[in-house]
Amino acid sequence: MAKQAKKRANAKKTAARRPRQAPKMLSDLFLETLKDIYYAENKIIKTLPKMAKAAHSKDLAAAFNKHLRETQGQVKRLDQIFKMLGKPARGKPCEAINGITDEGAEIMKDFKNAPALDAGLLAAAQAVEHYEISRYGTLRTWAEELGMPDAAKLLQATLDEEEATDLSLTELATSVINLEAEEEFRAAA
Ligand SMILES: [Fe+2]
Ligand SMILES: [Fe+2]
Repeated sequence: MAKQAKKRANAKKTAARRPRQAPKMLSDLFLETLKDIYYAENKIIKTLPKMAKAAHSKDLAAAFNKHLRETQGQVKRLDQIFKMLGKPARGKPCEAINGITDEGAEIMKDFKNAPALDAGLLAAAQAVEHYEISRYGTLRTWAEELGMPDAAKLLQATLDEEEATDLSLTELATSVINLEAEEEFRAAA
């Protein structure tokens, strides 16, 4: 047998011995991303009470506590979607949300009792919301593509809550920052 032909025959034998892996489909990606956001939401449930406790502004603390209750409902929606898929509700560590919440923890430590603390907390919270908005937008679209209108509806409901939270944080940012600027002005006078 010519050298080349022998090589080809050996390659064929090796390929035949290797277990065949099913090609990864959009449904696999959907499940993986669902696990990602499930982990993220549970991490947020642990983080929000710490942020509410740290906030100077009562309005900001109230906004964090309100979103904590919403987030608990969002996890329940995800539980329902896992059920629809016939899969156990399980999270998969998400480095993105770990990084964002670590940054928030750093702000809480470095700006403890500082006038700029609330502005830092707001910025950290909005980074979380933007991450969630991106994930839920993708998941909603994929659920539609995969012919899962009920899952798409649940994901849209959460997406609406994340967007409304982001908006109310933007509104709070103006009043919180104005208050801090006033404090700084008074301290400098
Ligand atoms: Fe959320
Ligand atoms: Fe959120």
